[in-house]
Amino acid sequence: MRGEELAFEVGGSMVVVTVREFDPSKDTEGVEAVERICEVGPSGKLSLFTDLHGDPICRVRNSPTFLMLVAEIGQETVGMIRGCIKIVTCGKKLQRHRKNTTEPASKQVPVYTKLAYILGLRVSPHHRRMGIGLKLVQRLEEWFRENGAEYAYMATEKDNVASVKLFTDKCGYSKFRTPSILVNPVFAHSLTPSSNVTIIQLPPNDAELLYRTKFATTEFFPRDVDSVLNNHLTLGTFLAVPLGSYSPDTWPGSPGFLADPPPSWGLLSVWNCKDVFTLQVMGASRVKKVIAKTTRLLDRAFPWLRLPSIPNIFQPFGFHFLYGLGGEGPRAQKMVRALCAFAHNLAKDSGCQVVATEVSGQEPLRCAIPHWKMLSCEEDLWCIKRLGEDYSDGAVGDWTKSPPGISIFVDPREF
Ligand SMILES: CC(C)(COP(=O)(O)OP(=O)(O)OC[C@H]1O[C@@H](n2cnc3c(N)ncnc32)[C@H](O)[C@@H]1OP(=O)(O)O)[C@@H](O)C(=O)NCCC(=O)NCCS
Repeated sequence: MRGEELAFEVGGSMVVVTVREFDPSKDTEGVEAVERICEVGPSGKLSLFTDLHGDPICRVRNSPTFLMLVAEIGQETVGMIRGCIKIVTCGKKLQRHRKNTTEPASKQVPVYTKLAYILGLRVSPHHRRMGIGLKLVQRLEEWFRENGAEYAYMATEKDNVASVKLFTDKCGYSKFRTPSILVNPVFAHSLTPSSNVTIIQLPPNDAELLYRTKFATTEFFPRDVDSVLNNHLTLGTFLAVPLGSYSPDTWPGSPGFLADPPPSWGLLSVWNCKDVFTLQVMGASRVKKVIAKTTRLLDRAFPWLRLPSIPNIFQPFGFHFLYGLGGEGPRAQKMVRALCAFAHNLAKDSGCQVVATEVSGQEPLRCAIPHWKMLSCEEDLWCIKRLGEDYSDGAVGDWTKSPPGISIFVDPREF
């Protein structure tokens, strides 16, 4: 990709900013330096810093198509942005009966679109309000269009004024969905999943069939879900069923399960973010840190008391992300609760400080997901824009104007 130049007048002299593709051989250090000085979150409050472990494209490299751009003044990196493109479900339609099949007369099938995602936009605090952020977004959108993306979206905290204004006022994005990021601490003690529930780890093929059958019409479901499930960062897909229905030894495979499912079941997959990047909460007072440490010491010394301890999030920490969470039946919540306890123990054994997931505000299983309000984000703001006007509206129409579904599929590759 060719570089593009932008000239500004600052203090009476001209400054030239170049926007070009990230080059790992010469930009890694500069990008990390900008990342280190960019707080994300409202100023004056606690903010979150990301350590990318020396790999600035780590947060997009698992997507099928991705690009990272940098902005530089002379030799100095002053900003960056990442983007990726994939095919996802944007709606559903009724498919009529096909002759000579055993399928029902009509069924809901997904409608797919090519969707781009923007993440990791940063501009050095010394070079803000010069139009660099805007230029980075515009240049990335050009690449999205060249690659046939129909929509682009981004996620931000709803009180990140700079980011919200940049995208909505200047770039034509509209507020679209507000899912909740639910975060739960990982305690020093293990949790005990309900004894009335059996948890089975599914082979990736079984997991794929189950997801495609039950979740393909969920908004944002990635058509390449198989590459997510087979990615080395997926630690496993776990199914919870009532005790006595199946065991790992009598698991009939997904076709058998789908033909005769138990009355209730729950499902989730675990993604290992810890091996990709770590986070750190900055700006906490000394007193808060001491209190948090005390709770951890007590938990470690007396695990049988099952004291809820505050994790060490003031040092770089890793976490697991739970995705593809769902279930059916009257006891689905109980199944999901058991899966969350299981996932907690997995995260504890891997040295994670928290477990996170993201679900729609209307998600019926949400109340079964343990989380601490102080660590969670009630409304993660997703903004969307339609990039191409020449697509047929098809069965869905303009997705940006559609009402939210009950559930949402949050792709772990983009968290
Ligand atoms: C968000 C961010 C990338 C903006 O970068 P920037 O180069 O300063 O943005 P621009 O100069 O291109 O600003 C374009 C428009 O965005 C809006 N904007 C940018 N910063 C703003 C602020 N602090 N307050 C209000 N509006 C703001 C304005 O509409 C601005 O146009 P104007 O200057 O003509 O009023 C930068 O503030 C940043 O790196 N923040 C920390 C990281 C972060 O929050 N990233 C976004 C996560 S999605």
